[in-house]
Amino acid sequence: MNFKKLAKMAVIIIASVALLSACGSSTRGSSASKSTSPSLKKGDLIGISMPTKADQRWNVDGANLVKDLKKAGFKTKIEYANNSPSQQSNDINNLVSAGAKAIIVAAVDGTAVGPAVEQAKSQGDIVIAYDRLIMNTKAVDYYVTFDLERTGILEANTIINKLDLKGNGGKTKPLNIALFAGSDDDNNAPYFFKGAWDLLKPYFESGQLVDPSGLVTKDTTDADWKKISVHAWDQNQAQKQMDAFMTKLSQKPLAAVLSPYDAISLGVMKSIKNARPDMSPSTPFSASNPDNKSAWPVITGQDGMDIGITNIKFGAQAQTVFKNVALLANKTTSILTQIADDKKPKSTDAPMSNGKKDVPTWLLKSDELVKNPTGDQKGLHYEVEVGFITEKQYQKDIAAPIIK
Ligand code: BGC
Repeated sequence: MNFKKLAKMAVIIIASVALLSACGSSTRGSSASKSTSPSLKKGDLIGISMPTKADQRWNVDGANLVKDLKKAGFKTKIEYANNSPSQQSNDINNLVSAGAKAIIVAAVDGTAVGPAVEQAKSQGDIVIAYDRLIMNTKAVDYYVTFDLERTGILEANTIINKLDLKGNGGKTKPLNIALFAGSDDDNNAPYFFKGAWDLLKPYFESGQLVDPSGLVTKDTTDADWKKISVHAWDQNQAQKQMDAFMTKLSQKPLAAVLSPYDAISLGVMKSIKNARPDMSPSTPFSASNPDNKSAWPVITGQDGMDIGITNIKFGAQAQTVFKNVALLANKTTSILTQIADDKKPKSTDAPMSNGKKDVPTWLLKSDELVKNPTGDQKGLHYEVEVGFITEKQYQKDIAAPIIK
């Protein structure tokens, strides 16, 4: 073959390759909206790994996910890890062995779960971090949660308003406050605290607020949250920590408690009742009478648990940050459906770093529930309206106080 013939053949080959690849991309449509690894199809098994059955919300989360995923044409298998990081790793391994092509993980311990999701990823699984980010690994594809700082912002604003800190609250004599943060192994906890602390810190600096335990001072930073964290969000642990606070408080009045979770709030209330039986929700803290030693403090919460509803109804708790978790299950299902339809899901918020990867993130909006709503706040019955609890359960919740 002479040089001319060779050159002619090369031109033909190059032209055919170009034509073929052009056809290929046109049959795949606009490549920007298509996935590069369409590893999932309808009918595939999706593994769901939830942290514990002991907390009300994770039961509702799990049930919603199963319902939505089935409706979307997937099969599901769900495991609850009893709040144990090692059990959760086993659960994830078992889900993958059972054939799960994607796993949805609400981590017990965001870091400890790393190796298990890496193993899942190595089998080709899609990994979705659900509500809690999985830390220090590249093996996370997507993160769906609620706006994390908003929890703390709503809680702090309730305290600021009820204590009249923008007015005269604490100006003649500092008001006493106890502060709690969430579990030390949960990446959400520092965000909740940051949302609250950025708003409360100025009142420590001005001397209007003081923590008699000395754990939190005007020099505390967002990074110090572990000093007041409650491991595993545990009610009994919170009660113990509050017992220590009450010893330091002694017979002085208590204006407020920043609590990031309804079960922590209940532990706090039990401790207050033991240490200071004179304090009662029937005499709530009032900014016009801050020296009343028997006044019940303003206590915040999160999750809209049944106990939270009861405590708000009977005045023991001021508010709860409620997450309509049905929306979170919808979002998760829609991500997996898009992948199965060979589309690339587009996240709506800035990616969150887990230390190893900027994970595509969706942040949903939580609501604030109170007894007598104003403005954007919602009443307690809202939980029935969005299907989080039944009317029957609601009636049970508002039947009798836990803390008198
Ligand atoms: C969740 C909260 C929940 C807490 C305790 C956090 O990771 O975001 O909604 O209150 O865990 O279960």
